[in-house]
Amino acid sequence: MLPIDLRGKRALVAGVADDNGFGWAIAKCLIEAGATVCVATWPPALNIFLNLLERGKLDASRTLGDGSLLSFEKIYPLDAVYDRLEDAPADVRESKRYKDVGDFSIAGLAVRAREDFGEGSIDILVHSLANGPEVKKPLLETSRAGYLAAVGASAYSLVAMLREFGPLMRAGGSVASLTYLASERAIPGYGGGMSSAKAALESDTRVLAYEAGRKYGIRVNTISAGPYASRAASAIGIIDDMVKYCEGNAPLKERLEAIEVGTATAFLCSPLASAVTGVTLYVDKGIHAMGMAVDPSTVPPIAG
Ligand SMILES: NC(=O)c1ccc[n+]([C@@H]2O[C@H](COP(=O)([O-])OP(=O)(O)OC[C@H]3O[C@@H](n4cnc5c(N)ncnc54)[C@H](O)[C@@H]3O)[C@@H](O)[C@H]2O)c1
Repeated sequence: MLPIDLRGKRALVAGVADDNGFGWAIAKCLIEAGATVCVATWPPALNIFLNLLERGKLDASRTLGDGSLLSFEKIYPLDAVYDRLEDAPADVRESKRYKDVGDFSIAGLAVRAREDFGEGSIDILVHSLANGPEVKKPLLETSRAGYLAAVGASAYSLVAMLREFGPLMRAGGSVASLTYLASERAIPGYGGGMSSAKAALESDTRVLAYEAGRKYGIRVNTISAGPYASRAASAIGIIDDMVKYCEGNAPLKERLEAIEVGTATAFLCSPLASAVTGVTLYVDKGIHAMGMAVDPSTVPPIAG
């Protein structure tokens, strides 16, 4: 037997606000493999998430293989758009959802983790978040502000997280993020600079793998997941078409489950992948390998 054994390891998964996204599935798989998991949640979603947990609404999803309920070591606030608290405009800092959560910046998250656990206390860092305010607009119609916001929230945030968390991570640690095929193939409807953000994320994965590998002895990889109807993906507006297209045209025709992204991430962050760094790993039922649609009924009308 060659098990994925993460006992004694601590993970921080950024981008968990419900039980329906990749972040949740990844956190659950890391816990199933024995890791202790902290999560970081976007302040506008934090209270709702805490309420759902408290009221037992997520208990079915919290149930682990042995029948126990998963729990997170810590749930931190994080708005990955801000490197430091002072970068957030006063109206954000003073707004209802932000004013009582403390320092929600990336640097603030690292300070809290250092206070709670000390240096060399984190083995696994997962970046499972993205935001593109103009995602529904074609790239041709995307504003400069919208484009830069997409890249800032969805790609630069990984750079800033590694800068802050590198010193907190143990050698042999592993960083994983989530990307999408739109980085390298045109996906009509995935707009607003989000395709550019994913291309940046994949390129940065290679450079950060080199820099953080040499500096901290940690690995950096990204998982290119197939379409899945999470809360964030539903905001794109065409997720059902994307899922249907994959079912009709990918080499493996079963719909992608979030848990499959979770198990692949657990492998990538485990000692079994100790020589794997700088890669984009496709966890997408093989759709990336196709160059032609085979089921014309799954091709949605071309937008624009
Ligand atoms: N669902 C898909 O089809 C798909 C496919 C490939 C890649 N991905 C990627 O997977 C990752 C997770 O997305 P998901 O689809 O599981 O949806 P999700 O809704 O579960 O996760 C996205 C998370 O990002 C958080 N977030 C948004 N803006 C933030 C900010 N400024 N600071 C901190 N957190 C913020 C949201 O609150 C949410 O928890 C994203 O990077 C996404 O692009 C998704």
